[in-house]
Amino acid sequence: MPVRGAWRGLFPRSLAPVAVHGLAGLMMAVLWRSPYGPVAALLVLLPMYVSCWVFAQYHRERAAHQATIRALVQAVDIKDGYTRGHSERVGQASMMIARELGMDDERAEVLRFAGILHDVGKLGVPTRLLRKDGPLTPEERRIIELHPEYGHEMVRGIGFLGEARSAILHHHERLDGSGYPYGLTGAQIPEFARVVAVADAFDAMTSTRSYRRARPVAAALEELERCAGAQFDPVMVGALVRALGRQGWHPAVTADENVPPGVCPPAPPVSSRLESRSHRNGVGGGGA
Ligand SMILES: [Fe+2]
Repeated sequence: MPVRGAWRGLFPRSLAPVAVHGLAGLMMAVLWRSPYGPVAALLVLLPMYVSCWVFAQYHRERAAHQATIRALVQAVDIKDGYTRGHSERVGQASMMIARELGMDDERAEVLRFAGILHDVGKLGVPTRLLRKDGPLTPEERRIIELHPEYGHEMVRGIGFLGEARSAILHHHERLDGSGYPYGLTGAQIPEFARVVAVADAFDAMTSTRSYRRARPVAAALEELERCAGAQFDPVMVGALVRALGRQGWHPAVTADENVPPGVCPPAPPVSSRLESRSHRNGVGGGGA
């Protein structure tokens, strides 16, 4: 690691605990010599150590949550490598909508998890169906359309996902009731699911796939606006349009990064065929 990198990264990180402990020791020494002696030192320092412990616990818990999410996403990416990186980008776009809607940090983070994990139920769909090269039978299509329910089953015991769980179950619902799995309409569809549906379709349109080139961001937004009201919540579409107008679209993981040099992209999966079918009636989602 370059010296400059070490100075900026590791050194401050390792110096901070030393500085905090040094200050605590100094405070202990000063209080110990005060008129109230050791009692004063304990009364001041004990709460300080407790708050430090709680803070450390919070960070450990957060790291465990991130690791759980990463493991699930990697499993989905291995299963359906064709759309690798899609989950992270849907999480990123969902977060942009959350910020635009003024959600607090905690809800925005849970919404990001919802975007990242929206297609986790693909783990329950046979790989041969996700990668099938050819028309789908009605039965195969029915099995693929079970993935929101599989996903919900997988994550419903994970408490920290909160509202993200219902977003995973309902991310293919449409405002006019023509979606699945329950055909919910309008406000019956959970808010997080309405956000993820927009983010999912936006990334599906702006990502390059082997069967078609990526659409420009402006064209994708135009398409989302055209389908707002029938398929998508106009509030969520408007929020994405405003956020992108201000910040632009700079995905952390692009589709191109997912295919190592010299490796041919896999054959178009079932999701592409569902997507093109959906385009006849509206905008198709990125996943199945
Ligand atoms: Fe999906």
